Amino acid sequence: MGHDFRCTFARVLSYSFAPNKPLMPMNPSPLLLREPDRITEMVAEWRAQGQRIGFVPTMGALHEGHMALVEEARKHCDKAVVSIFVNPTQFGEGEDYTRYPRMVDRDIDLLSRHGCDLVWLPDVHHIYPDGFSTKVSIGNEITGILCGRHRAGHFDGVATVVSILLNTVRPDASFFGEKDYQQLHIIRRLAADLHLPGKVCGIPIVREADGLALSSRNQYLTPQERAVAPALYATLKWVRTELENRSCAEVLEEAQNRLLRVGFDAVDYLEIRHGDTLALLEENVAGGRVFVAAWLGKARLLDNLEL
Ligand code: PAJ
Repeated sequence: MGHDFRCTFARVLSYSFAPNKPLMPMNPSPLLLREPDRITEMVAEWRAQGQRIGFVPTMGALHEGHMALVEEARKHCDKAVVSIFVNPTQFGEGEDYTRYPRMVDRDIDLLSRHGCDLVWLPDVHHIYPDGFSTKVSIGNEITGILCGRHRAGHFDGVATVVSILLNTVRPDASFFGEKDYQQLHIIRRLAADLHLPGKVCGIPIVREADGLALSSRNQYLTPQERAVAPALYATLKWVRTELENRSCAEVLEEAQNRLLRVGFDAVDYLEIRHGDTLALLEENVAGGRVFVAAWLGKARLLDNLEL
């Protein structure tokens, strides 16, 4: 496999051209593969060489939040593998599956600059071949709350695809963002329950300078909405401060009104839950986090903050 395989699939090294200087190799481009079996083989070959594999599953339209996961994978492992797959089964009817941003060339350039070694770009039929009929379903205690309450079936779609991705790559560690805190929580449960390969690692939220959590869906915001969006994080910080003196119910109600007043269209939830168990906290907020999902135009923005 080794050399021929790489020549077939590797993109050529990128070179920077400067007059009077020899061509200098810049960032080696990652290998690009589509078929699950090729991924498993490549990873097995690396592992046979004693290399540790870090894996970052994504849906593309990559940004610095995703790159923080790649950097973490590189820090803890020898090889960083990234998948880009807009997973149809985690989108509900009427959600944004068809218009979810797709920009693979740009994503690959970004990944090259961050030292990613292998990009897995499956088509839908690679993940869900004809006859596919399995669904991984997670208990309602953790999927029936927060985002799961507003997006029926979403986390079953996530759990199903993540099971396939982890079983294909079989990494030593996989990396997920705390931006999707409930997703991370569910994936930890899933990986423990099904003995999926590799350690599941959570990474803190990466934000814009004005506090807005980076998200592929921020692209849906108009300039006016983009100006309003930082109020989401500002409100979470306000909640954290106000809780020092006032009751949860009072603070959360006022926070929700603030969001609507500054221009958010609807608040799906604004709740305090325990960071480890996601149990609802209504009085004693020790160990708590405040979670929010709110609509701004076509974008549903998520955020959370440790109290
Ligand atoms: P996607 O939204 O592309 O996110 C991929 C990973 O990047 C997730 O673990 C997410 O939490 C993390 N991430 C996104 N924005 C971040 C930010 N601002 N800071 C830190 N991490 C951030 O989440 C998914 O894709 C999918 O559900 C997936 C797990 C790939 C399954 O299809």
